[in-house]
Amino acid sequence: MQSKLVSRDDKLHVGIIMDGNGRWATRRGLLRMRGHEAGVEAIRRIVEAAPKQGIGTLTLYAFSTDNWRRPKAEVAALMTLLRFYLSNEVQSLVENGVRLTVIGRRDRLPDGIANAIARAEKATADGGTLHLRIAVDYSARDTILNAAAKAAALTSLTREAFSQLVTGEAGLRDVDLIIRTSGEKRLSDFLLWEGAYAELHFTERMWPEFEASDLAEALTVFHGRERRFGGLRPIAAEEVPSLSRV
Ligand code: FPP
Repeated sequence: MQSKLVSRDDKLHVGIIMDGNGRWATRRGLLRMRGHEAGVEAIRRIVEAAPKQGIGTLTLYAFSTDNWRRPKAEVAALMTLLRFYLSNEVQSLVENGVRLTVIGRRDRLPDGIANAIARAEKATADGGTLHLRIAVDYSARDTILNAAAKAAALTSLTREAFSQLVTGEAGLRDVDLIIRTSGEKRLSDFLLWEGAYAELHFTERMWPEFEASDLAEALTVFHGRERRFGGLRPIAAEEVPSLSRV
């Protein structure tokens, strides 16, 4: 479905807080880890569905800076899943035109993961169908703080220039829609700068059971909303003038 508020050529940027893996598993008498494994299956489904539903950039929250506080065994298992994903999925990502980048800190990740990330990013760099961003050891507040530290050395600063410092990319589209699964209604330090005007969609669905049809439903609700960006008339995200300068 194409909203009149999104110009034909512009693909959406959607962020997803993939919540509920643990509850999905324990309700079935399974170890929490089985929920994370099922969560990877859901990632595969949604990465495949996203470009067909008008999404050009998909940012997935895989591991927050606060997740280090989980039991060691669960952290280790999540890191193993990430390592497998990075090595086993690259071929399929390349074949499907998916460019993978990872946002967040890399210096605290277990041995080998930072290299695996660099290899996956290089191998998928030409993908033009979907930009998949995976947030690992990620905190939006830390990201903004680091950008501010870099900005302190500059003599002039625009929103665009600061965005580049925050996201590490020139021209990354602001987030249009943030989806959180499992009934929780928080942003949990996710995309606080890029998502300043994001529409929010909360669903009771647990992440392991999230399907392409759930994504389609979230987008239908999104397209039905009026985005005014502080003005009085609905306008498309790419038509918002950058009036404010710092
Ligand atoms: C939240 O569910 C989910 C996470 C903290 C991890 C998300 C990770 C994956 C989906 C798989 C690993 C990712 C990649 C890219 C390989 P929760 O455990 O907080 O669930 P709960 O709230 O029900 O306990």
